[in-house]
Order: sequence, then structure tokens, then C-alpha cells
Amino acid sequence: MRAKQVRELWKLRKTEEIVDPARLPKHVAIIMDGNGRWAKQHRLSVSRGHRQGTETLREIIRHTDDLGIGALSLYAFSTENWNRPPEEVAALMQLILDFFASEIDELDRKNVRILILGDKKALPDRQREALQEAERRTAKNTGLRLNIAVNYGSRAEMVKAVREIAAAVRDGEMTLEKIGEQTISDHLYTAGQPEVDLMIRTSGEMRLSNFLLYQNAYAEFVFPETLWPDFTVEEYDRCLAEFEGRNRRFGRRDGGEEENP
Ligand code: FPP
Repeated sequence: MRAKQVRELWKLRKTEEIVDPARLPKHVAIIMDGNGRWAKQHRLSVSRGHRQGTETLREIIRHTDDLGIGALSLYAFSTENWNRPPEEVAALMQLILDFFASEIDELDRKNVRILILGDKKALPDRQREALQEAERRTAKNTGLRLNIAVNYGSRAEMVKAVREIAAAVRDGEMTLEKIGEQTISDHLYTAGQPEVDLMIRTSGEMRLSNFLLYQNAYAEFVFPETLWPDFTVEEYDRCLAEFEGRNRRFGRRDGGEEENP
């Protein structure tokens, strides 16, 4: 990273704890948890909690882009979320529409490339069209990869990958022997993107909830206690600083040297 870039980045960081911008994660994933509890604390409807959560989301996307992080994956709606009360599902669907209507111009201007992780076919028409249009409009952008998981489940994603690979073998385009770990990565929604380096789940819960199971194989996890609507860019930077301080060995010994057993 050039000295000028580093100076610019230091001006943007919200905590002194980020000391080496070159060690920022390439791919951050976030489970935005705690909207319901935030709403309860404020005696508001759950839908209002999700709306407040969307405000946090805008700030975090902007800051991720400012810092020059390559990819950000956000869990907006899981395949299990259909089981929530119908008015909450309707509110989330409306928020998704509102979000794209209000943000798409800025995101496109900032060269952000949007990708929806999940099965769009099962979504209501208006949502499906808005998401497809956001993907189409930003497809050639080369900046931040913004992945928004909607009707997403990691196991379903893996089933999709297995079916595609099996079909390729059946049709003679691929041999069994050639199937490797990369083959599976290439058939996930996130194909071509770096693996997740840092996974953040807010609200103190410590679960993956079927989010990016394959992509998180060597991710570092940070679990801030803050409920998502109260999560700030300052706290986000503290998560990034914590990541920077972690010693990632990827199964090796320190320094990458193998010791005798
Ligand atoms: C978890 O909180 C959050 C969700 C299920 C939805 C997250 C969605 C948004 C922040 C906004 C919509 C997204 C876009 C892209 C506009 P919870 O309701 O499970 O919280 P709780 O555990 O406190 O009940």
C-alpha cells in the first residue's frame, strides 16, 4: 500500500487502535443481530427496530467502502426468516425495497458492485426485480463487493453447488477426480471473491446461523455485545482493530514453520 493511501486511510479510521491498514480484512461478513431486542428496549415495534437497523447498515457500508475493504457480506434475510410473523416479514421485504430505492444511485456512483446471495426466485415480484436490477446496474463496477444475503441459507447454497457440479460430471464437462475445494468455492454465490476474514455478529449471540459456512472456514470471529441498531462505525473500527491484532495461523505453527511432532 502506498504511503499516501495509508495516510488517507488513517484519517478515515475512527479508532487509533487500527495501526496497520495493510492488515485490514479483505472480506468482512456481518450478522446484524439485535433489532428485535432494541425495539423492545425502546417500546417500539419489531419493524421499527429493523428500520433503525437499516440506518446502521448504511453507515457501515459507507465506512467499509471508505476504508477500501474489498468485500462486505450482510445477512439481511435467511431462509428461516419466512417463519417470523407475517407483518415482520412484510416489513423486512418493504425495507429491502426502500433500501435499494434510496441507496442504489450512491452505491453505483461509488463503483460498488452488488450481489445478492440467496434464491431470488422465491421472493415477491417487486423485491426480485429490484434486486436483479441492482445487480444488473452495478455488474461492471470494480469497487467494493457488496453481498446482501436475502432468502439465503448456507446449506441450501451447498446443495445448489453439489447439484451444479454433479450435472457437470453427468454431462462430461468435469471428471470426479478434478473436483477439489476450489470447485466447490467456484459454485457458491461468492465465487471469485476472497474467503471471509472477519465475521462479526452483534448483540452478544455467538452462532453462525447457517451463514457462509464454507466461506468462514478460517475467519476470525468478533462478537460485540451491542445491538445492531446501536452499532457504530467506531465500534466497527474496534472490531477491525481486534482482527488486526489476531495471530492467524491457518492451522500452522507461528511463523509458518512446521515443528517436529
Ligand atoms: C436480526 O435481528 C436481524 C434480521 C433478521 C434482519 C436484518 C435486517 C436489516 C438490518 C434490515 C434489512 C436489510 C436490508 C438490506 C435493507 P432480530 O430481529 O433477530 O433481533 P433479536 O434477536 O433481538 O430479536
